[in-house]
Amino acid sequence: MRQYRIAVLPGDGIGPEIVKEARKVLGVVAERAGVRFVMEEGLVGGAAYDRCGAPLPDEVMELALASDAVLLGAVGGPQWEPLDYSLRPERGLLGLRSGLGLFANLRPVVVFEDLIDASPLKPDVIRGIDLLIVRELLGDAYFGKPRGVRVENGQRIGINTMVYTEAEIRRIAKVAFVLARGRRRKLLSVDKANVLEVTELWRDVVTETGRNYPDVELRHMYVDNCAMQLIRNPGQFDVIVTTNMFGDILSDEASMLTGSLGMLPSASQGEKTAMYEPSHGSAPDIAGKNIANPLATILSAAMMLRHSLGMPEEAAIVEKAVRTVLKEGFRTEDIRQAGAVVVGTAEMGDLVAERVETLPA
Ligand code: IPM
Ligand code: MG
Repeated sequence: MRQYRIAVLPGDGIGPEIVKEARKVLGVVAERAGVRFVMEEGLVGGAAYDRCGAPLPDEVMELALASDAVLLGAVGGPQWEPLDYSLRPERGLLGLRSGLGLFANLRPVVVFEDLIDASPLKPDVIRGIDLLIVRELLGDAYFGKPRGVRVENGQRIGINTMVYTEAEIRRIAKVAFVLARGRRRKLLSVDKANVLEVTELWRDVVTETGRNYPDVELRHMYVDNCAMQLIRNPGQFDVIVTTNMFGDILSDEASMLTGSLGMLPSASQGEKTAMYEPSHGSAPDIAGKNIANPLATILSAAMMLRHSLGMPEEAAIVEKAVRTVLKEGFRTEDIRQAGAVVVGTAEMGDLVAERVETLPA
C-alpha cells in the first residue's frame, strides 16, 4: 500500500479544531484511494512555547523536514503577545517557512456560487471570481535586516527593512509565470515602484523574467490601486504576484470576496517539504466553541493532495464535496445565510467527509 508521511501541526486557538476536521476528511480519502497517511502531530506556536519554551521545537522542524507534506492549523493568541519577539507563536510559523525554504505562497481566491450572498460585495462584482495570489514568503520586511527597536538620542526608534535580491524576485516571478500558463495566462505584478526602490527592482526583474514567457500577458499595478481594484472589479485578475507584506494584506482583503476568511486555503512551496494551511489566523475569540469554519483547512488539505501527494483526483473530490455541502445549504457561523442550516465545526467536517465517501469519482 502506498504510504505518505504527513506532519500535522494544529497550533493555537481554533487550529486544533479545524485540523481535526481536515484529518477526518483525509482519513476518508485514504480509505477511498487505498493509501495510507501516517499523520504525526507536533507542537508549534504558543502551544509549543507553553510545553517546550520555544515556538518551534527542533524535533518539530525535523518532523516537518522528514515528511512528505506539512498540514498546519494556525498560531498566535493574546496570552503570548507580551513575550519577546523571538518566542512569539508567529516565530514558529516564520521559522517553518524559512526552515523549509518556502518562498512561494499560493492563495487561491474562488467564489463559490452558493456563497455569493455571504460576501458583503454585490453578486455581479464577485460572481465567478477565480484568482490566485502568489505571495513571496521569505523576503521583505518579514525577514529583512536591520530590524528591531532601540534607543537613539533618548528616544525609541523602530526599524524594519524591506529588502529583495534579484534572485529572490526572479524565483517567485518564475513560479507565478508558470502558474499563469496553466490558467488564463494573465499575470499582474503588484508593487509600489513609484515610491520604493526595492519594488522598482521588483518590477524590472519581473519584466525581465517575463521575456521567457511571451505567451503570458504581464501587467503591473501599484499596491494601493490593486487594493481598490480588488473591490471594484476583481474579475480583471487571474494571477497576482507580489511581495511578502503586500501579499499578506491583499490576501486578507481578497478573502472577503468569497464571503469569509474561513474559506481561503493556502499552499507554501519551496525547495523542501511543502506546507498547507488556511490563510486565516487562530481566531482565539472563537476557539473551543465549535463554531470555526474548517473549510479553509479542508481545502488546504485538498491542495496538499494535489501538489505534494500526487493525488489530483482525490483533491478534486474533496473540493467537490465542499461545493456539494454548500449547495445543500449547510453553513458555519461565519458564512451564515438566511434559509441555510448553521452547523458547527465538527458537523461541517462530518458532512464533507461523508460526501467524500459517497461522491462518484
Ligand atoms: C498569514 C499570517 C501570518 C503572516 C502571521 C500569522 C505571521 O497573517 O499567513 O497571512 O503575516 O504571514
Ligand atoms: Mg495574513
